[in-house]
Amino acid sequence: MFKRLQQKWGLSTKTFWIVFLAFGLTGTTTAFLTRYVTRWLGMDANSEWYFRLGVRLFMLLIGYQVILLSFGALLGQWAFFWKYEVKLLRKLRILPPEANKTLLAIFASGAGSNARRIMEYYHGHATISVALVVCNKSGAGVVQHAEKWGIPVLMIEKERFFHGDAYLEVLRQHRISWVVLAGFLWKVPDQLVAAYERKMINIHPALLPSYGGKGMYGEHVHKAVLAAGEKESGITIHLVNEHFDEGEILFQASCPVEPNDTPQTLAARIHELEHRHFAPAIEKAILAANSKS
Ligand code: GRF
Repeated sequence: MFKRLQQKWGLSTKTFWIVFLAFGLTGTTTAFLTRYVTRWLGMDANSEWYFRLGVRLFMLLIGYQVILLSFGALLGQWAFFWKYEVKLLRKLRILPPEANKTLLAIFASGAGSNARRIMEYYHGHATISVALVVCNKSGAGVVQHAEKWGIPVLMIEKERFFHGDAYLEVLRQHRISWVVLAGFLWKVPDQLVAAYERKMINIHPALLPSYGGKGMYGEHVHKAVLAAGEKESGITIHLVNEHFDEGEILFQASCPVEPNDTPQTLAARIHELEHRHFAPAIEKAILAANSKS
């Protein structure tokens, strides 16, 4: 039962138990405070029943939620509990249902600095929201970033990804309409590419069509650029098709390659470009597509 709940919430085991603790502390504190408040108001068994009920309901409906948010914040889980509250208010129809937002899934395998930037950028965005992070590597940095922003994480397994339904069903359940690859190292199966035709975006740390294709990822790209004595490198944001790094180019930005660059210094310069341009380029592509449909 715990495992299922943990999966539903998309949390790591450690965070799951912290969240669990926050719920436990909230329950106990609310019960204690309710008793305290009733006594403070001078209420006892002889007080009017509706008066007693009113206080209890207030503590349960309002007090509990405020205490929950406070414990959540104290335990470093503000984003999770804030999202939880907003969801509850939407269910109770106190807040209007989420507008027809375009929902994104970010696929990432590593540190996830691009994913983090995208989550930041779309936090509170009027029409676009990151609804899911998909990861194939346990312990990858991106998982912690997702938890910080209260975004569920789907951990995927090789067998099901390549030889099963490629998790298409799960993406549909989350109403994902765009997929963003931000340092995702597995080749996306054709079935998934077809399902998100012109709605799947990748970022590549070089100026395609040069230095792309199979095996060209991470440091390999920067090493190849330096070995060829290039004076310039950059980033390419492109649509994904069934061939590695060959989809339509949406955006490119370049930066100089300095004579004393190492793969690491060049990578840092490229990362800066990525962090500046990736999220707005995704937004531009989505808004353009939405305005056509
Ligand atoms: C980026 O350089 C991106 O171009 C490439 O993978 C890297 C991911 O970096 N596809 P990070 O995990 O976002 O920091």
